[in-house]
Amino acid sequence: MNAIVSVTANWGIGHQSKLLVRNRDDMRFFREKTMSGTVVCGRTTFQSFPGGPLKGRRNVVLTQNLDYSPNGVEVVHNLDELHAAIAHDDPDKVWIIGGEKVYRQLIDECDRAYVTVHETLRDADAFFPNLDEDSNWTIEETSPASITDEGIPYRFVTYARA
Ligand SMILES: NC(=O)c1ccc[n+]([C@@H]2O[C@H](COP(=O)([O-])OP(=O)(O)OC[C@H]3O[C@@H](n4cnc5c(N)ncnc54)[C@H](OP(=O)(O)O)[C@@H]3O)[C@@H](O)[C@H]2O)c1
Repeated sequence: MNAIVSVTANWGIGHQSKLLVRNRDDMRFFREKTMSGTVVCGRTTFQSFPGGPLKGRRNVVLTQNLDYSPNGVEVVHNLDELHAAIAHDDPDKVWIIGGEKVYRQLIDECDRAYVTVHETLRDADAFFPNLDEDSNWTIEETSPASITDEGIPYRFVTYARA
């Protein structure tokens, strides 16, 4: 499985259930990478999607709530149920898409992390683990710097398990 995430300079990923930076190219990158695969997220992140389940992908949502069953998603209630649900998927097409609680539980199982790094700091209450400080991870590839519509420089950085 792989993780995919958009971060600010100090690995912030969200504030009050919202993303920190608007980046249309990153949304396109996310869509292209995950399309036709399985996306795995926590209940909080799922509820932040304006349009409900992500189209063209198998949506798997983690919650401890046994009564939670929104349309168009598969609900799992713990990591064992998650592993059973994805057991027959191509591991390269299983995408951990957040939020913080889910990233932290599953990052050790990921082969790669596709991190869109924005050169800005924002108030955040959710963070991705800092892979630069983790010797288990190395940078495999970095795109040239680009800039969002709002003028924020960013790069697509691929981290691989060392
Ligand atoms: N920048 C990015 O790329 C990105 C991507 C995704 C999310 N985000 C941001 O991340 C923030 C949300 O992160 P978060 O940590 O608060 O929430 P989260 O990880 O999205 O969801 C947490 C919830 O998932 C369920 N859950 C997690 N682990 C579980 C397990 N092992 N078994 C059963 N249920 C489990 C629980 O739901 P119940 O409470 O229902 O039991 C838990 O409260 C938001 O600000 C969002 O915008 C950013």
